[in-house]
Amino acid sequence: MIDIHSHILPGLDDGAASMEESIAMARCAVTGGIKQMVATPHVKSRTYPSRELILSVLAKLQKELKKNDIPLVVMPGGEYNLEPELPGRLARGEVLTINDTGRYLLVELPPSSVPDYTATVLKELQVEGVTPVIAHPERNYVFMSDYSRLYELVADGSLVQLTAGSLTGYYYTEVTAAARAFLEQGWVHFIASDAHNRSGQLLQFEIAAKEMLQLFGDGERRRLLVSNPQRALRGESIENISRLKVSGE
Ligand SMILES: [Fe+2]
Repeated sequence: MIDIHSHILPGLDDGAASMEESIAMARCAVTGGIKQMVATPHVKSRTYPSRELILSVLAKLQKELKKNDIPLVVMPGGEYNLEPELPGRLARGEVLTINDTGRYLLVELPPSSVPDYTATVLKELQVEGVTPVIAHPERNYVFMSDYSRLYELVADGSLVQLTAGSLTGYYYTEVTAAARAFLEQGWVHFIASDAHNRSGQLLQFEIAAKEMLQLFGDGERRRLLVSNPQRALRGESIENISRLKVSGE
């Protein structure tokens, strides 16, 4: 399986605090069946790690993984705060897309609002040739209470990443309900751990994979945990099924 959202890089955000923690996370990921992982530290305009810093810390982690013989491939990325300045920074080459292919960008909205500029910024990113991947919308209060707000953005070309723990009940009931509803509507393109440490969220990834199999079958499990993530890593196109005509329309 492939995890496109993790905070495994040490010392850059509220994820792994040390290289030891990063290595412990990598061991947990491998035990849970993850073979490839995208390192996506939080990036905010005022306190951001630059793409150069992310790449240099990633290189150190890759060296340690090799030294410790841990079979986890870690790739570059970032979890970017959705801000009006983001398209401009992308145009200036300052942003790290998923695996640096220039095709998919993980973006995070605030937890309790959908700012007025959201649709505009997401569209501007697409005009620059990048498809936004909205990180865990099921944990945002606005999307959670009005599912149609997310549909509008997906119908407009953005993709969706669900956090594994949202599906398994790791967060609260409304989050699980929203996660399942988004899956049933076909609005979800990836499931990822959003792991910040060695415990909790990484374990949920493995449980979510089993739940996906039971609830939605092996085809859907593979699509969200293996094939779509693989396509993102390669910069290949991903079907946005919400765009398909719904029967009766
Ligand atoms: Fe995250």
